[in-house]
Amino acid sequence: MNWGLEVSMTEKEISLNRGLQGVYLDRTQTTFIDGKNGVLEYSGYNIHDLAENSNFEETSYLLMYGKLPNKKQLEVFDKSLKNARKLPEKIYDVIEIVKDSHPMDVLRTAISTLSSFDEDREDFSEEAIIRKGIKLTSQVPMIVMAHYRMRKGLDPIEPSKTLAHASNFLYMLEGEEPTKDTARLMDIDFVVHADHGCNASAFTTRVVTGTNADFYGAITAGIAALSGPSHGGAAEGVMELARDVGKADNAANHVKKLLSNRERVMGFGHRVYKSADPRAKHLKEGVKKLSKEKGQTEWYDILLAVQEAMRPYARRGIHANVDFFAGAVYYLIGIPKDLFVPIFAVGRIPGWTIQILEQMRHNILIRPLLHYTGSREKLYVSIDKRD
Ligand code: ACO
Repeated sequence: MNWGLEVSMTEKEISLNRGLQGVYLDRTQTTFIDGKNGVLEYSGYNIHDLAENSNFEETSYLLMYGKLPNKKQLEVFDKSLKNARKLPEKIYDVIEIVKDSHPMDVLRTAISTLSSFDEDREDFSEEAIIRKGIKLTSQVPMIVMAHYRMRKGLDPIEPSKTLAHASNFLYMLEGEEPTKDTARLMDIDFVVHADHGCNASAFTTRVVTGTNADFYGAITAGIAALSGPSHGGAAEGVMELARDVGKADNAANHVKKLLSNRERVMGFGHRVYKSADPRAKHLKEGVKKLSKEKGQTEWYDILLAVQEAMRPYARRGIHANVDFFAGAVYYLIGIPKDLFVPIFAVGRIPGWTIQILEQMRHNILIRPLLHYTGSREKLYVSIDKRD
């Protein structure tokens, strides 16, 4: 037992890991990451294999149930996702009230409110958590797109009853079905974002679940953690960077200036990956293809030039991460930049669901320690005697 650790030990005697860097929190059967060699697997399947051959629906099943579905299982799962494309009417009222906030804040508020309408609210069984996860996987894209439309004074677009998840997401933007290539690229984006071990937002969902709080509370907190620029917010920053760079020829000087001012280059670096982020490759290929298709190759050229300028930093383990190319994908599809982080959340619901479930399976309160470095045993001074 480590009673009293907080009060009696010196910094030398404790092992202090700021940011919990390199600390193992628990065991998992879901996502394997080898940051040194740039390997990512969901339930044992390599991300490259999944990005090339699977789709978001199948990958979501894999994450939630720990195995690839057979044909029948996938059909049933897909049907549940499509049937869940409904939002309680009052959620639209909530979105209307907060519609001037950042889309991530709107999403956080709407998800928190959804718990009031969940008939399974008091049910913490595995089946209920999966049911909630499936429902939310379909509802989050609806919230994001309803807000996008409502803040422009437009009516939300009813989701399609037949389109696949990624196509339906893009369909709800302007009511137009995306091309096959664009839909596939969005689908790949959701696959590579579906889970990523104990990152800041997943950790947050586990901390909340550790107190036996409910599913919606955990996801709401996860959304808040994801919204920051050190986590999900980087894709937005990358397109701002690309715009600031202006043209590929300026990239080297621009990057040099940022680094000499000790500023961060958005879309580079990762707490776990010290070699290439395996997810980035799939989005890089997507940007290349899409920018040609749209006749806007300058963005791809700028990103390549920034990557080239950052090459010396690769030796220090700083490589392009998944967000570096994701922003350009969304931009080229025509999605406004403040929806870039919510898109990350759209893809991440299956991952958070399984993280919550794993935490619940052998739950433990997550309660680390803080090493106190202030002064101690001071005498209380009454207010009239203070300076
Ligand atoms: N640009 C410039 N320098 C960087 C960058 C960067 N993007 N990332 C790390 N470094 C440098 C730091 O300045 C630091 O240098 P120093 O040791 O000389 O002070 C060193 O690398 C280590 O940086 P830390 O912040 O300690 O590394 P950590 O692992 O904690 O950071 C993080 C990871 C927060 C993602 C960081 O790389 C960063 O801020 N990147 C930019 C934002 C970004 O792209 N976020 C998306 C992350 S991926 C995701 O969530 C999907």
